[in-house]
Amino acid sequence: MTFTTYSKIASGVALALVLGACNPNTVPEITGSVQQQTTGSATVAPVQQTAMDQFISELISKMSIEEKVGQLNLLSSDWDKTGPTLSADYQQQIKAGKVGAVFNAYTANFTRELQKVAVEQTRLGIPLLFGYDVIHGHRTIFPISLGEAASWDLGSVKASARVAATEASAEGLHWTFAPMVDISRDPRWGRISEGSGEDVFLATELAKARVHGFQGDDLKATNTVLACAKHYAAYGQAQAGRDYHSTDMSERELWETYLPPFKATVEAGVGSFMTAFNDLNGVPATANHYLIKDILKHRWGFDGFVVTDYTSINELVPHGLAEDLSHAGQLALNAGVDMDMQGAVYSKHLPELLAQGKVSEAQLDQAVRRILEMKYKLGLFEDPYRYSDEQRQADQIYKAEHLAAARDGARKSFVLLKNENKVLPLSAKQSIALIGPLADSKADMIGSWSAAGDRITKPVTLREALVERLGPDSPIHYAKGAGYEFTDTDQSGFAEAIAAAKKADVIILAMGEKWDMTGEAASRVELDFPGTQDALMKELKKLGKPMVLVLMSGRPMTINWANDNLDSILHTWYAGTQGGHAIADVLYGDYNPAGKLPVTFPRHVGQIPIYYNMKNTGRPYEPEGPEQKYRSRYLDSPNQPLYPFGFGLSYTSFTYSAVTLSSTQLQPAEEITASVTLTNTGDRAGEEVVQLYIQDKTASVTRPVRELKGFQKVMLDKGESKTVQFSIKATDLAFYNLDMAYVAEAGEFNLFIGTDSTTSNQATFQLTNTVQLQSAMVRP
Ligand code: NOJ
Repeated sequence: MTFTTYSKIASGVALALVLGACNPNTVPEITGSVQQQTTGSATVAPVQQTAMDQFISELISKMSIEEKVGQLNLLSSDWDKTGPTLSADYQQQIKAGKVGAVFNAYTANFTRELQKVAVEQTRLGIPLLFGYDVIHGHRTIFPISLGEAASWDLGSVKASARVAATEASAEGLHWTFAPMVDISRDPRWGRISEGSGEDVFLATELAKARVHGFQGDDLKATNTVLACAKHYAAYGQAQAGRDYHSTDMSERELWETYLPPFKATVEAGVGSFMTAFNDLNGVPATANHYLIKDILKHRWGFDGFVVTDYTSINELVPHGLAEDLSHAGQLALNAGVDMDMQGAVYSKHLPELLAQGKVSEAQLDQAVRRILEMKYKLGLFEDPYRYSDEQRQADQIYKAEHLAAARDGARKSFVLLKNENKVLPLSAKQSIALIGPLADSKADMIGSWSAAGDRITKPVTLREALVERLGPDSPIHYAKGAGYEFTDTDQSGFAEAIAAAKKADVIILAMGEKWDMTGEAASRVELDFPGTQDALMKELKKLGKPMVLVLMSGRPMTINWANDNLDSILHTWYAGTQGGHAIADVLYGDYNPAGKLPVTFPRHVGQIPIYYNMKNTGRPYEPEGPEQKYRSRYLDSPNQPLYPFGFGLSYTSFTYSAVTLSSTQLQPAEEITASVTLTNTGDRAGEEVVQLYIQDKTASVTRPVRELKGFQKVMLDKGESKTVQFSIKATDLAFYNLDMAYVAEAGEFNLFIGTDSTTSNQATFQLTNTVQLQSAMVRP
């Protein structure tokens, strides 16, 4: 590949110096020093900042206003549609030099074709950046993100992101719109499926793992992609669980719960951020100077670029913040938004806003610089086609080892919610009836946001996997039986399902939600089984046979009847391309399930928002207490969820010893160690996620009843014991105090170690002195 366009326009010594060799790394450095990036990134290799700065400064000095504005314009191709609009003329706009990045375009061929236009037919030949929603796999699809979170397995989640990056980058992609790091405590919100659940600590660890997985150690490597932390910020608290709805919360809640995963991605070196659609405390995220400039860019020192969500600059008008699109563009750029996704507001209005002095050229240049820097770090100025490689594409997509990783990741994500009388694992001798709309539906296996994953032929259904495992002659009595659309009322399939069930020893129900009932714009007011599934379950129960529910959904559902009446329940989320095999592995005991819920399952929608780390209130309800009326409780439901955060069973059993502490006094600069002995008391090897929770008993502001502060996944043979230790430092105890300073306050703490968030296995220690970690920089 050559930069003929560059050499053609490279008049003048300076530009020839910068661009002449077509390789920015050949530019002599000014200082000769190699600097680490300011984010302190562990994942992005050190770059020659001075060479990059010089290269980009020279390039920017040659750009017209239109060319600069073009770099800020991200348009969708027509290969996929992930929002309300498409631009029919995106290819002409690329040719006119009015586009800096394209999304929803992939394959080595197509990206090369579009890149060629940008590089060879525009004046400066600046390469395009190609982005896509590679969320839980690109072609080989892994479990949905919430399912991956249920594995509590950082290595596995990182490996999944690595595979996704390898496949995506082989198809010409440079950039993924992931990880989604929105905390959510509202399962009515369909996008809860895309995140890591309700807990700050778990979500933060997973966010870092995903950034490291996508970006690898070197952004320039052709098997890594730029990650994007989204949706900044507080999108997961959409009021009433209705997508795109406003959020309104205290600064303390924002800083303690919603911002930490984002901050962690900056520390992990994430290259880009996406603003959220929502209004946050009266200012939509896409025009929120406080969020973008003050916190992200200045306080956290983020040095990547900020892109909007789909047309969210335009949406500042219906939000009621901007008078018109021009005003919207002004607000967004001045708030620090660098790139406009699909809205074309910047491309249409920035030139006039500059002429009117409503935005400055310096602000525009900063946005251009941030974007060009990422292109540089990806190596696109050296070779714009380096990611569009047909051979690598052929070698990488759906590669056997990727499929194996997807099967393993899926098994790790499953949560065994109930297993009465040890109905699971099944024996190959038992005849089975496989019933339900999700038993043999390929499209449903891979869930929403499944990128370029084939949902027609590739996914392995549970029925297919069982036939392959049990052999063609072993009878699997299959019937779809019920419908799962909201509008389904037809029960004519019940007779076939009942007949199938009568012939079998065990009934396996594959039921839940249709794949597109979660994800974007997929909020629900009820969380029960859609269609006729519930009615069929109740009919089948009358047969008196053992019943196993394989539950597929992208959110917690209210499954009280199933919990009370079925023998076993295995939650399998949307398990991905190899989902059927993974479920069969667990049903037959080849893999012992070890997943734990990353989110609370309510009994009733009326309990939402429901999460384990709530405040105690002044009138906590004690079911055994003398006074029942004037307490914080419901008249028609227990307060407790159906399944708590952190819950999940195994085919074996574990016991925990009492917690012991190395000291009951924690000095500010020291650590104490908390230990338990974990024993596998069952009849097979298995893994347990040992969870550590801490409660600050009294503080200058009220604190949650407990908070997750650590976890370890431990494998034990049958009969084996291991001591599991956690070290606790003052920094683990910090929170935003009354003045919004980040402080660990002296006093007494309860510490719990156990199998889920309800454990009562407790010890107590004191923090001897208050430690201030950060002064009150946050507005109160
Ligand atoms: C809208 C979604 O909110 C966002 O998550 C996604 O990355 C963009 N569309 C691009 O598809």
